[in-house]
Amino acid sequence: MAKPTTDNRQPTIIIMKVTIDGQEIEVAPGTTILQAARMIGGESVPPAMCYYSKLKGTGGKCRCCLVDVTKGSEADPRPMPKLVASCVTGCQDGMEVASKSSDRVKEARKAVTEFLLINHPLDCPVCDQAGECDLQNLSFEHGKLQQRFVEEKRTFEPEDIGPYIQLHMNCCIVCQRCVEVADQLTDKRVHGVLNRGDHSQISTCISTAIDNEFSGNMIDVCPMGALTDKTFRFKSRVWFNKPFNAHRDCDKCCGKTTVWMFGNEIQRVTARKDEYHEVEDFICNTCRFDKKEVSDWVIEGPRQFEKDSVINQNKKYNTTEKVVIETEKGILMGREVDRKKISMADIDYNEKIDGNPINTKK
Ligand code: SF4
Ligand code: SF4
Ligand code: FES
Repeated sequence: MAKPTTDNRQPTIIIMKVTIDGQEIEVAPGTTILQAARMIGGESVPPAMCYYSKLKGTGGKCRCCLVDVTKGSEADPRPMPKLVASCVTGCQDGMEVASKSSDRVKEARKAVTEFLLINHPLDCPVCDQAGECDLQNLSFEHGKLQQRFVEEKRTFEPEDIGPYIQLHMNCCIVCQRCVEVADQLTDKRVHGVLNRGDHSQISTCISTAIDNEFSGNMIDVCPMGALTDKTFRFKSRVWFNKPFNAHRDCDKCCGKTTVWMFGNEIQRVTARKDEYHEVEDFICNTCRFDKKEVSDWVIEGPRQFEKDSVINQNKKYNTTEKVVIETEKGILMGREVDRKKISMADIDYNEKIDGNPINTKK
């Protein structure tokens, strides 16, 4: 970020250094810990169920992204006593954060996952979201094998919110992303969070149907099967579909989508999603619900995914380094990551295997 200046000299660039799980990165003021972690990438990136980088005001509701700030800043190095939500906590210069490397964080994420599942139905085998559900991924990575909740689960009466979107309130975690979509993308929001606490629910005002040209984006931002596509409902499991990047000239949106095909049939159209399951560009309802013929689209090619998950079976790719072959010397160089310098002097001969020093003679 540049400071405002009154002369012609070069503006001063303010850069802050932040360390997350031992990896240092330079960020601009205003960057949150979660954003800094995403810049680093890999396993240090906290899970996020309510934060959505494309929507303003999201985050701070689900507590999945908790991290441990072990050093507040260079100016005030005291650690933060409690775990903080990384999506709404700004970075400070010299800050040190433990994410995946902290046992406290791992325990807290397990607790949050258990809490989110308290009232959640065991519907995965029949749920349309299965295979592309962030809650499934969260439970797989951070869930406990057993749950302690023995009471009856809270349930809601089914509610019809319009022709395109299926609301299954029992699956909702009240992350409020869909409310932000309606606020920020559509002309008039007709749904929101009704009631309080355990009784909070997503609903429309006096059963008004959600009918707006950009309302379908709620389906894409919903991290679970609470809002699903009625036109795709029970047609196929997502892992049987083949996703392709496609585009068309659209006067309402960017027209760039992913079409999900079963044979030659387009069964579903969604926005294109990145590795954090966030859409690259929001799309209109015409592209999403009305253009299901192959002739409606210019198919660009198979959609590939960076993140490993059930849905990405056979579709995930890793960027691999090119293997350099030094033909003249007849040496296969291999990948940079596999090349290690080994110094005999650095080898710790007192290193232990299963508690026994490796140089112990039996
Ligand atoms: S919303 Fe996700 S976790 Fe819940 S039943 Fe559906 S697939 Fe399973
Ligand atoms: S319906 Fe989906 S997007 Fe909306 S609050 Fe519930 S979980 Fe979040
Ligand atoms: S993603 Fe940070 S609180 Fe939900």
